[in-house]
Amino acid sequence: MHRLVFAIASSLVVVLAWGPRAVLSQFNTITFSSVRQCGNFSVHFSGGKPPSALPLTLTVIPFNSKPIAIVIPNTNWNPATANGAVVTFLPLPSGTDFVASLDDSYGQGTGLVSDIIRVGDSDDTSCLPSSSVVPQARYKLQDPQDLSQCEPYNVLFDPNVVDIPPRIRAFVPKNFSFFANRTGSASGSATYIMNAARGQQVALMFSDDTGFQQTTGLLNVGGDSQSSSACIPSTSFLTTSTTQSSTSSSQGGLSRCVELLGCNLLIAD
Ligand SMILES: *[C@@H]1O[C@H](CO)[C@@H](O)[C@H](O)[C@H]1NC(C)=O
Ligand SMILES: *[C@@H]1O[C@H](CO)[C@@H](O)[C@H](O)[C@H]1NC(C)=O
Ligand SMILES: *[C@@H]1O[C@H](CO)[C@@H](O)[C@H](O)[C@H]1NC(C)=O
Repeated sequence: MHRLVFAIASSLVVVLAWGPRAVLSQFNTITFSSVRQCGNFSVHFSGGKPPSALPLTLTVIPFNSKPIAIVIPNTNWNPATANGAVVTFLPLPSGTDFVASLDDSYGQGTGLVSDIIRVGDSDDTSCLPSSSVVPQARYKLQDPQDLSQCEPYNVLFDPNVVDIPPRIRAFVPKNFSFFANRTGSASGSATYIMNAARGQQVALMFSDDTGFQQTTGLLNVGGDSQSSSACIPSTSFLTTSTTQSSTSSSQGGLSRCVELLGCNLLIAD
């Protein structure tokens, strides 16, 4: 029988930082494999250093569903060779689309988000939950068709169920993930800033103080040349993220890192 090394994320440590924190990549390369239903899904990470907040957690975002968090043992990173890997199963049926991110224990990305990955066909059903309960959505975007670069958007919820608005993490495939800035809230709604650029697609993850989590599908970010870009996280990425087992390396690596804020942490000790 398969040993499933996953845990449905219900107890992610929550950092209460709302800003589009400059996400500084810690690994030079992260490679996500393709996956078939109940087959191996592997992630390789190399170069750089692991983040200080361990353990690493693989966050998987199936669209319009709930996220999966897979905690990676610290021993999966070999400091001598600067290589790490995890091989796991995903309890997702074939045809499911998802993105994945390798995170530190605070849920900050340690590199770029994967491309969109679709679970391929197979006859193996051993990893699937016996009853696939579609989680009841708790959060709803007021105007999902009307998201715009650096513009506010509203999230609606039942004030009898939710008293503290959720934290939102946005995942841009093959680009960064970030926590959305919340700019206001009222009974039954909260307002956030869309920190992604026009033309991009994002999937959102809602997490609240009760441990409830929910994901959206891919949403299109609109805007035009007049759109503010002040909210777009500006940190350069040292990391490349690749999918389907093709690997490429970042340019510059650690030597460029020294010039960037916070990078001394990366190369220290
Ligand atoms: C988001 O929050 C950060 C930190 O609180 C702040 O510096 C930044 O200006 C905010 N961005 C927007 C668009 O409100
Ligand atoms: C899946 O991964 C495990 C552990 O690395 C390995 O033993 C097994 O051979 C792999 N299975 C396939 C089909 O690749
Ligand atoms: C991520 O998106 C930003 C905003 O569109 C873009 O400037 C940047 O080049 C992208 N980064 C990567 C690694 O694709």
